[in-house]
Amino acid sequence: MASGSVKLGTILSFCVVFYAMYYRKNELGDVRLSSVKDHLLFLENDNRVGMGSLQPRVALGYGACQDLFVNATSLLDYRDLKGNPEHFNEITSMEEFLKSFAYFFKHGAAAERFMSNSELYDQLVAKAIDLDDTKWAIGGNAPLMARRFFTEGWKVLLAAKMSDKLKGELPQGINIVGVDMNEHVRDDVHMILEYKADAQFGVYKAPRANRYIMHNDENNPLLSSLEKLGENLHNFNPHLLVISGLQMMDNFPFKQNGKDLRAERLDLVKEQILSLPEHTLAHFEMASYVDLELLLHLTTKVLPYVDSVGMNEQELSNLNSVLEQGKVVVVADSNPRIATALDQMRSVFRLIRHKNKQHGSKRQLTRIHVHTLAYQAILTVKNSDWKRTEAAAAKASLTAYRYVCDSKNIELERAKLLLDDSFSTTTDNDNNSRVFFEPTKPVACWNEVLEGEDVEFCVAPVLICTEAQLTAGAGDNISAAGLVLQVEL
Ligand SMILES: *[C@@H]1O[C@H](CO)[C@@H](O)[C@H](O)[C@H]1NC(C)=O
Ligand SMILES: *[C@@H]1O[C@H](CO)[C@@H](O)[C@H](O)[C@H]1NC(C)=O
Ligand SMILES: *[C@@H]1O[C@H](CO)[C@@H](O)[C@H](O)[C@H]1NC(C)=O
Repeated sequence: MASGSVKLGTILSFCVVFYAMYYRKNELGDVRLSSVKDHLLFLENDNRVGMGSLQPRVALGYGACQDLFVNATSLLDYRDLKGNPEHFNEITSMEEFLKSFAYFFKHGAAAERFMSNSELYDQLVAKAIDLDDTKWAIGGNAPLMARRFFTEGWKVLLAAKMSDKLKGELPQGINIVGVDMNEHVRDDVHMILEYKADAQFGVYKAPRANRYIMHNDENNPLLSSLEKLGENLHNFNPHLLVISGLQMMDNFPFKQNGKDLRAERLDLVKEQILSLPEHTLAHFEMASYVDLELLLHLTTKVLPYVDSVGMNEQELSNLNSVLEQGKVVVVADSNPRIATALDQMRSVFRLIRHKNKQHGSKRQLTRIHVHTLAYQAILTVKNSDWKRTEAAAAKASLTAYRYVCDSKNIELERAKLLLDDSFSTTTDNDNNSRVFFEPTKPVACWNEVLEGEDVEFCVAPVLICTEAQLTAGAGDNISAAGLVLQVEL
């Protein structure tokens, strides 16, 4: 009897201890979450720009499209997948499409592919439109970034060939150039196949929410709005030029009669950047590229001439590999350690700096922004024209939540942090380079010397939206949000 009650008492007190430990852990988690949120919001509020009398100006190229958001696992039937997941540079058949989709899905990796089979593409679009939860929205990096800048109070010039109907989906104040008078435009349609974390496709399970983008573009690969932008650029006199959308040239059949049309178009992009005065900053937004020839063109015709590049973790691994070894990385870790991403950023910085020298470029790379699911990392050269790196990382982090949850308010019940409270800044000597996120200072910043330059790194944890509403276009919002605070008039 006595021993029985002792036992019961012991079990009870164990339970109490466990309960207390569990409860305390959760409580601490909430305290950290709410402190991170408050301080990110403080940094954002404390660094408003575009409120003065001088309105900042941004010009953005190239292209636009109609995005068709589709539930990936409703559109595709895993039973049609014959054989193993596999990567293809370009998609020509349903069989290749399913293999390619499964390949990225099982890695949770973002992808964008060109489907050269127009008939199949149109069939898939028709099938997608018939599904219940399919939605239309305006798409393309340039329009999405344009809208973000406009919302933040900037004056915006956008280069894109788009129909009047599509133009109607952008705020009126954005100046759009690209179409000739009375020209009829048929908008390119991009299919955004979305899936949630833990979604199942046959035996495959997605490790994180993401999207697979498919396109069959006619206008965008030719950067058909480039000349019109050129005509308007000088009068507009932007503080910032954003180059994006070049991934639409990926795997596009360009060589005709021994001429490489793509190389010619990219030379014009280079000239467009060079035509601007040096005090206009130029940013290049990376994307999902697989065509090595195109990537190599970027390393000689675009990257040596920009001040800034923005990208996600997949694009970072790919760019680093192309610069370092001339090899494409099709899929990388979709949730890399901070130390790994920082090492790749250092490497990309060095390699592009060498390209700057090699090409005798007057502009040098002074900024890299990498956005991942779990954190935002921004490198800037100190004494460059980029300001407020800490606040920019904070704003990018908040934008990631707001975009994915589709809500302006940050609700703690729908947010989580994936990061621990400290991290190594490099994989080389894990123990000697730990940085701590202070609860009241969630953005960690420190200085280093790279290629003889004093640089600042800032890393902000992302308040991750646990109920993903949107994934495509998040990168555009996030990259633009980061840039908004960094340009000083
Ligand atoms: C994302 O950006 C778009 C366009 O820039 C904007 O309309 C939308 O409100 C943004 N979403 C959030 C939640 O910030
Ligand atoms: C797709 O549809 C399935 C079944 O209705 C649903 O469980 C899933 O959450 C949907 N996925 C997305 C990304 O909306
Ligand atoms: C880091 O510290 C751990 C534990 O103290 C040790 O086992 C490990 O070898 C150290 N690593 C390096 C790279 O110094």
